[in-house]
Amino acid sequence: MNAPLPHAIARTLNADLPKLFQPGRVGDIEIANRVVMAPLTRSRADEAAGDVPGSEMNVEYYRQRAGAGLIISEGTQVAPAGKGYMATPGIYSDAQVEGWKRITDAVHAAGSKIVAQIWHVGRITHPALTGGLPPVAPSAVAPKGVVAYTHEGKVEVPVPHALTVAEIADVVDQYRRGAANAIRAGFDGVEIHGANGYLIDQFLRDGANQRTDAYGGSPENRARFALEVVDAVAAEIGAGRTGIRLSPVTPFNDLADSDPQAVFGHLVRELDLRGIAFIHWIEGATGGPRDVPGFDFAWARRAFRGSYIANNGYDRAMAIDAVASGRADAVAFGRLFIANPDLVQRLQRGAPLNAPNPQTFYTPGPAGYTDYPALAA
Ligand code: PHB
Repeated sequence: MNAPLPHAIARTLNADLPKLFQPGRVGDIEIANRVVMAPLTRSRADEAAGDVPGSEMNVEYYRQRAGAGLIISEGTQVAPAGKGYMATPGIYSDAQVEGWKRITDAVHAAGSKIVAQIWHVGRITHPALTGGLPPVAPSAVAPKGVVAYTHEGKVEVPVPHALTVAEIADVVDQYRRGAANAIRAGFDGVEIHGANGYLIDQFLRDGANQRTDAYGGSPENRARFALEVVDAVAAEIGAGRTGIRLSPVTPFNDLADSDPQAVFGHLVRELDLRGIAFIHWIEGATGGPRDVPGFDFAWARRAFRGSYIANNGYDRAMAIDAVASGRADAVAFGRLFIANPDLVQRLQRGAPLNAPNPQTFYTPGPAGYTDYPALAA
């Protein structure tokens, strides 16, 4: 028998590979595999230069992780008032766009795709982090037990300013400009941060939204701000490059809702009509238990025709099964990507994983950032 051609061998091997490791598509974005790097705050932008990303160290960090089919950037604030942590990068100034360009170029050169997670923290901040600007929110309700980490140490976050209708329109425009800047910076698209108790989530859930105007009350009204942001972003960069991250049941940042299925159900149906690229779901409590009641994620999978990106506590077997069964189109990993720059290769081979060290998640410098080892070649 003749020896098979090398490309024929490759094809056979490829067909045996779990679907998690096979190419796919998220909206208009073609991806080499269905392993996604989740957005991860690392607090290593240049604050003195104006919250600018793109240092050699930042570039190296993302380049090391370009084995992911899709990278979602760390949250990048669309305006100074949207910043909630030290040294998080922005996406509203020209210097920030130039910095991000160095990162997107490196990721593309390494063969991956990257979207920007555009972020406004709303009430989860303190004037010490925003250049003196007050935190803003749908209503003047402070989150309980939430502290901000500033250069002066831990401080309780104050009662936020309730946005007026005119101010809401300005913030929607900040997201629109953030999306336009993301494309200028070479990103393949945008993930709107609608999760984890930050501004969009504060409008969605009635634990923070006590408005009595068109932005509060009914599920339709509470979803209005989220959908205005989605519409502004999609009009700017295309629905096929627009996604959103949602966490309907997480208690993170002291946020809750009396009926998550009602408000997120309405939102999902509206997002489906708009044909956006993906919804990135935090299934359960952020970084915690997955079995939190209140929302039917299997229903959401059926109700939304774009890509379903699953996240929260997945391991190798769960991720392979989720994509093979069609329960998800892709699976996002956070902490495992911090500790394993070559996570996709390790998952593919079933190789052991490095353990993440929480002590260095947010510290300046390369320790715990660019020094996690890859597997020996
Ligand atoms: C964090 O910095 O701890 C953080 C930021 C954004 C999130 C969740 C956690 O969505």
